[in-house]
Amino acid sequence: MADKKNLRTPIVCVMGHVDHGKTTLLDKIRGTAIVSGEAGAITQHIGATEVPIDVIINKLGDPRLRDRFIVPGLLFIDTPGHHAFTTLRSRGGALADLAIVVVDINEGFKPQTYESLQILKRFKTPFVVVANKIDRIGGWVSQKDLPFAVTFKKQSEDVQARLETKLYEVIGELYNQGFAAERYDRVTNFQKTLGVVPVSAMTGEGIPDVLMVLLGLAQKFLEANLHYSAKGPGVGTVLEVKEEKGLGATLDVILYDGTLKKGDTVVIGSLGKPIQTKVRALLKPRELSEMRYESKFKQVNKVTAAVGVKISAPGLEGALAGSPIRVANEDTLDEIVDQIKSE
Ligand code: GTP
Ligand code: MG
Repeated sequence: MADKKNLRTPIVCVMGHVDHGKTTLLDKIRGTAIVSGEAGAITQHIGATEVPIDVIINKLGDPRLRDRFIVPGLLFIDTPGHHAFTTLRSRGGALADLAIVVVDINEGFKPQTYESLQILKRFKTPFVVVANKIDRIGGWVSQKDLPFAVTFKKQSEDVQARLETKLYEVIGELYNQGFAAERYDRVTNFQKTLGVVPVSAMTGEGIPDVLMVLLGLAQKFLEANLHYSAKGPGVGTVLEVKEEKGLGATLDVILYDGTLKKGDTVVIGSLGKPIQTKVRALLKPRELSEMRYESKFKQVNKVTAAVGVKISAPGLEGALAGSPIRVANEDTLDEIVDQIKSE
């Protein structure tokens, strides 16, 4: 087993069609209400939220599970489902170690559901499918925050049958897209078969199950990717270039490998020559808060992957969203500038 201290937090991207409930699902996981603050409840930017492992274990309701997982936490990335945001979705997909595809069980597959699956297929990203809004199935009696198996047992036979029918439509669609899938509690090997978790992001039913499947995937991911570590020079992607009062142009970055420190020299992709600059300040959103909406950032001297962080530095005006950012030193500077030029 690798040194636990240097394990990297896996990045989990939440994808799917507009209004199918991605942000609501994340709200439920972190215990916030971002959706209600969004214009027309439409997500327009990529957001990032760090959820520590203790918060997740707490939702699972069994502290003994703490020792089973080496995962330090999960960094969730929310993406917009609106058709106009294909680039943002691919950017999220490219960053993801794991993903959640959210589909409204009553509406079934829609254009951006297919698109999300294509992106994940292209990047070979392991994912779980969330069949959301089960509370809207006719006759469903909601049982707040309970695991799926428990709430399912409490439904009448008719309602159970209705859920199964809709669920197998989702599973059939996945099959048509080239994925073997099954209700998650009927999956024996998650490497071979996709798990589909029936959920209500609104009532919280099935949320513990989603988290359990995700932790399982995260564990497998970490075991296979221990070479990614929170040590070594930082590597990341620019999500957004933002003008901030008193700071000028800043970058919202997802650091997906290594460490980034105040004072580090970084190289960033731009339309022209790559930008070389020194990090003046690192601003971290609070745990469980969404980077897009955070106003109270904490100044830190150092961050380790994977993490969402705002960078303040001179000369960031020309930086491009979606471009790479890398920490360099005297020895590696030329090589890294060349690398970024060609990316
Ligand atoms: P975009 O970010 O615009 O792509 O949408 P989204 O996928 O993030 O959907 P969002 O979470 O904003 O939810 C859309 C609407 O569906 C909101 O009005 C939510 O309250 C509602 N909703 C989400 N999940 C559920 C659910 O499980 N049950 C019910 N009844 N409504 C839900
Ligand atoms: Mg959203």
